[in-house]
Amino acid sequence: MNSDTVQYAATQSRPAGIAAIVVVAQDGAIGRDGDLLCHLPADLKHFKNLTMGHSIVMGRRTFESFPKGALPGRQNIVITHNKHYHPQGVTVVHSVDEALQAATMPGEIFIIGGAQIYAATIDMVQTLHLTRLHATFDEADAFFPAINPDEWQQLNCERHDADERNPYAYDFVTLVRKS
Ligand SMILES: NC(=O)c1ccc[n+]([C@@H]2O[C@H](COP(=O)([O-])OP(=O)(O)OC[C@H]3O[C@@H](n4cnc5c(N)ncnc54)[C@H](OP(=O)(O)O)[C@@H]3O)[C@@H](O)[C@H]2O)c1
Repeated sequence: MNSDTVQYAATQSRPAGIAAIVVVAQDGAIGRDGDLLCHLPADLKHFKNLTMGHSIVMGRRTFESFPKGALPGRQNIVITHNKHYHPQGVTVVHSVDEALQAATMPGEIFIIGGAQIYAATIDMVQTLHLTRLHATFDEADAFFPAINPDEWQQLNCERHDADERNPYAYDFVTLVRKS
């Protein structure tokens, strides 16, 4: 448990769980040059279905990778060290703990990346929504933190082949932390 976790537990009575959602290649890669590894429309739809109506927490670099700014229908919480950062339509915070406290939408809080924010929050995450790509990508430069499989139970795994719109096979996997 890190200091953020301790502070969160001490200051919050909010019952909502914390989930992370990520698209990950076979080697753990999640990004390249500030962007996603590939365009997978089925995953964008999956992401939207799961996160709509919830608070989503992200690092400043992930936010800046969105082509149209804040994602609609969700509270966009962006973590930065920059005290002068005020983009439109987002809740700006300056630590993970502040991000969790700032969440106002019902249900789970979704950690949506990127690598720095996944690494800083993985110990608090109770549910992991993985989109596992059956592929690896050259020159990836952002990675999901290693997780210990013994600490997680797989709830489901939905397999999908590549098709005309989605260039790679992928699995939608849900893992929950064992209590
Ligand atoms: N595959 C996926 O599902 C997925 C999902 C999301 C992102 N990604 C990819 O991941 C990559 C981006 O990841 P990243 O690690 O470079 O960036 P990131 O985690 O999105 O953002 C990093 C930034 O967050 C801020 N930050 C991080 N920790 C902080 C703390 N403790 N306190 C205050 N601010 C903090 C800093 O912003 P300042 O520099 O402004 O201080 C830092 O530069 C991209 O390639 C993106 O496409 C992939």
